[in-house]
Amino acid sequence: MKNLFLLLICSLYSFVMQAQCVDNGNYWNESWMSCTVSTNPNPARAVSHWILYEFHEPQYIDSSHIWNANRTGESALGAKDVVIDYSPDGTTWTELGTYTFPQADESSTYQGFEGPVFGGVFLHKILITVLNTYDNGSCASIAEVQFKIDPEACYGIVDACGICDGPGETTWYVDADGDGLGNPTSSVDACIQPAGYVENNNDNCDNGALGWDDVFILFDDNGCLGCHGNNASGGLDLRTYATASLGGNTCGSSILSGNNLVGIITIPNYDACGSPIGFPPMNDRVGGAFDATELATLQAWVDGGAPENCTDYCPENETITLDYLTGALNTHQVSQQINASNLVGIGANITFDAGTQICLDPGFEVENGAIFHAMIGGCSSTFQSNQLLNK
Ligand code: HEC
Repeated sequence: MKNLFLLLICSLYSFVMQAQCVDNGNYWNESWMSCTVSTNPNPARAVSHWILYEFHEPQYIDSSHIWNANRTGESALGAKDVVIDYSPDGTTWTELGTYTFPQADESSTYQGFEGPVFGGVFLHKILITVLNTYDNGSCASIAEVQFKIDPEACYGIVDACGICDGPGETTWYVDADGDGLGNPTSSVDACIQPAGYVENNNDNCDNGALGWDDVFILFDDNGCLGCHGNNASGGLDLRTYATASLGGNTCGSSILSGNNLVGIITIPNYDACGSPIGFPPMNDRVGGAFDATELATLQAWVDGGAPENCTDYCPENETITLDYLTGALNTHQVSQQINASNLVGIGANITFDAGTQICLDPGFEVENGAIFHAMIGGCSSTFQSNQLLNK
């Protein structure tokens, strides 16, 4: 619904009206009437009958609705041909057009008519100059004029994404391993989320690798520390990487290999490391319990060698399909082979470092203006250690 901006009968916003002979007040049935022509505020118009609407602050005016003079016996005083000018600043004038206002029917149910369309013009003043009336007498009259604000208008600053008072472009971070976490060192600013990018930058290893930080959060959030904190139930203290690596009385460090950890959490009477861990499984002893995604994360960490830092992890092979856009900075390191079929766009800076082979498959492209390095070294290369130190 459109806002009714201004009504002669009730003016909600601050506004000033000037005209000659405002003898009847601002009421529907007590119209504006001018019986003496005078100097027009717009120098381009002759001495005439005119009415000027002035807004304290410029407004975006969309359309208008007008009620011509409608009092009994006076509709012939109604404005017939009028010219409408508007001013954005209060001094320079632009002609909106010349219009013919229909004569009112003097009925009590008179609805008025759709007035000129301004189409969202940003203006300060509106001037209606009456060129003639229905009886061509010495007086001119109009009952009411209503201006409607453009509901789409922006009164603030339109940001780079076209949003009024918006926050501007968002920074998006590369999520090469698709875990929903972004690489803090690799981002682009854009209005719309590019495929393969996310809004957070919580992934210190965007190659799928997890570190103790990632799994400790899970132990903590799922309530394991109640028994495996200070108390070290079963000999297992999950508070630090060092103590967790020692494992418990039954498994020792084997807790971090194979399926032991996930098995102990989920399987009743899990036959762990040669002697069963008693029913119920850990998941039934805590309030939170690991869900499937968390269990998969935990297993992925174990499968990756359960490293303390995600940067200590070195995948064997990697297939890269994610396109890198301007600003993206990333290094892929594997012990064996990289296969790539992605785009390295202008302004991106990407390094592939593999132990044995880098295969640039169909679809792989480096745009002019991108930086791309391919090297055979793998995770143990000097390059890697420098890289890791920089992370
Ligand atoms: C209510 C206390 C309690 C909670 C909560 C608990 N555990 Fe245990 N946990 C134990 C006890 C007691 C043992 C020793 C074996 C047993 O009694 O079944 C144990 C054993 C283990 C072991 C085997 C250690 C070993 O090598 O002997 C692992 C692994 C383990 N818990 C992991 C977890 C994880 C992960 C969580 C969180 C989901 C968890 N526990 C929650 C009490 C608990």
